Amino acid sequence: MKTSPRNTAKILRDAAPFKPTLAIVLGSGFGSVLDHVEAAARLPYSKLPSFLPANIAGHGGEVVFGKLGGAPVLILSGRAHYYEGHDLASITFPVRVLAEYGIESLLLTNAAGGINRKFRPGDFMQLADHINFLGANPLRGPIVAGREHFVDLSHVYDAVLGKLLQRAAKGTGAKLHSGVYLAVSGPSYETPAEIRAFARLGADAVGMSTVPEAIVARQCGLRVAGLSCITNAAAGQSAHTLSHADVLATGDAAGRGAARLLENFAALYAKTETD
Ligand code: HPA
Repeated sequence: MKTSPRNTAKILRDAAPFKPTLAIVLGSGFGSVLDHVEAAARLPYSKLPSFLPANIAGHGGEVVFGKLGGAPVLILSGRAHYYEGHDLASITFPVRVLAEYGIESLLLTNAAGGINRKFRPGDFMQLADHINFLGANPLRGPIVAGREHFVDLSHVYDAVLGKLLQRAAKGTGAKLHSGVYLAVSGPSYETPAEIRAFARLGADAVGMSTVPEAIVARQCGLRVAGLSCITNAAAGQSAHTLSHADVLATGDAAGRGAARLLENFAALYAKTETD
């Protein structure tokens, strides 16, 4: 890792028109939320030392300070993925920067395949917990000074933020489930046998991101919330073959609901801060 998170956090601080305590990572299926952000400052990832570019279609690749639902937020539009070949330390570097910057709560969004038979494409799932099937852990490696190495993951996803998501979904038309997200490395989609196995393990949805960031965020003491857009039925559960283009198309179609949900969430979050 070339730069320290502190150096990159300073660049954010210098560019920031205000100081949000809520950050939102927009993953596949959530890119259009940016259209609903009143942007006050934008910084492309290329201007932020040690930020990886967001190369995948549907991922913007910039930090946006703005108002969402009238509330100040820091948006990370797009992320780098493990399946692109990066190590987990590089992928999770932005989370360390957010913690240094002073972010307190982090909402991680993603696209996911629905394993739970009750889930339909276009529904959303609030992460109640996760299963790390990446075969790797972002905390593996040298001890980070001042940070716990053996991080407790009994409560990765903050119950209060989870309730705020549930409240935020009311009246938006967005159907929000709660469930367990299982992370695979990808980039291939799963086999039907893998999906049957994951269902037996207790997973409700499967995706290729979020878990490394959530683990590092917990190490840094951030409160974490997770939100999946269910873009497809998981492999073997429908006659469709899976494609990234279809995942993005469903994400786009669900974009309006996603934007409303996140607007309400940011507004409710700001309200709890001032209460
Ligand atoms: N599997 C893994 N990742 C995904 C899927 C899926 O079915 N859909 C969107 N991201």
